[in-house]
Amino acid sequence: MMVFRILGIMILSLAVPALVFAAGAHDGLNCVGCHGIHNAKGEIIFAVEANKKSINPKTKQAFTGTTALCLGCHETIERGGMGIAAVSANHSHPYGVMPNAKVATVPDVFLRDGKLECVGCHDPHPSNANYKYLRVDTAKGAKMGDFCGMCHSSKADPGALKGMKIFNSMDERRSSAPAPAAAPEKKK
Ligand code: HEC
Ligand code: HEC
Ligand code: HEC
Ligand code: HEC
Repeated sequence: MMVFRILGIMILSLAVPALVFAAGAHDGLNCVGCHGIHNAKGEIIFAVEANKKSINPKTKQAFTGTTALCLGCHETIERGGMGIAAVSANHSHPYGVMPNAKVATVPDVFLRDGKLECVGCHDPHPSNANYKYLRVDTAKGAKMGDFCGMCHSSKADPGALKGMKIFNSMDERRSSAPAPAAAPEKKK
């Protein structure tokens, strides 16, 4: 297993320099870096093995669902990831938690099975042009407080939430992408 993990890191580290010049950090993953079409390792045909080592300080258990998938890359190697822009649960905003209503009121669109996961705050698809793949446009971080206010409104500037647009790649019926060009007509 370790061999595969190291191989994965090598393949990714080859891909990373190209990413620097890509429009978005995940563009270079080219879909198949995250979704294994015929060699999936987890749910949503994920190409990367779920992280079973990193422990959620809130539940004292390993992370589950899509959060464990993100952490397959975004954790240190010692904590079961690939050391790519590693985030540490011990020094992070909580994730993998059922919201305590006294601390946060989380709109349904941000929850997965009732929990706040990484995808509650980030939509990782290349179609998301927002700063750091956040679910809302924060003007490159300048309006971060407005984003926090979506779930912690009693702490934010009351005017902040007006006009905030939530990005959601998870419903194709709402896609604004142009339809692919039709195949050229066959010559008769
Ligand atoms: C960084 C990793 C990553 C990349 C790159 C990525 N995806 Fe995803 N994809 C995910 C995650 C995580 C979810 C689940 C998101 C959620 O629950 O909000 C998902 C969900 C999906 C789903 C929906 C599955 C369902 O159950 O409804 C489709 C379809 C999909 N991705 C296609 C793509 C395509 C096409 C690309 C390339 C253009 C792509 N993905 C690139 C991580 C990724
Ligand atoms: C296959 C490995 C892989 C997976 C899985 C993955 N990412 Fe990434 N992610 C990357 C790489 C590579 C970068 C670019 C790192 C860099 O530039 O240093 C990146 C960068 C990011 C960034 C920073 C973007 C920026 O503009 O600076 C965010 C945010 C992010 N990922 C969130 C997520 C979330 C959330 C998930 C799970 C839904 C996820 N990633 C899953 C590989 C991955
Ligand atoms: C409560 C919302 C929230 C949750 C939950 C969350 N993030 Fe983030 N994340 C952010 C914000 C906001 C930033 C940008 C911080 C900044 O630029 O100061 C960020 C930045 C990042 C970055 C870029 C770090 C860099 O060096 O630029 C990565 C990678 C990332 N998040 C991955 C994840 C992963 C993986 C998870 C789940 C394990 C996760 N995030 C959960 C809000 C969140
Ligand atoms: C998508 C919803 C969401 C967003 C956006 C969000 N939070 Fe949270 N926040 C939560 C949830 C859920 C919790 C955990 C509540 C609990 O303990 O159950 C939380 C907890 C916290 C806590 C308490 C941490 C602790 O360890 O007790 C702080 C502080 C906080 N958030 C600050 C922020 C800041 C600052 C931002 C913006 C950068 C932000 N949050 C954005 C949902 C969100």
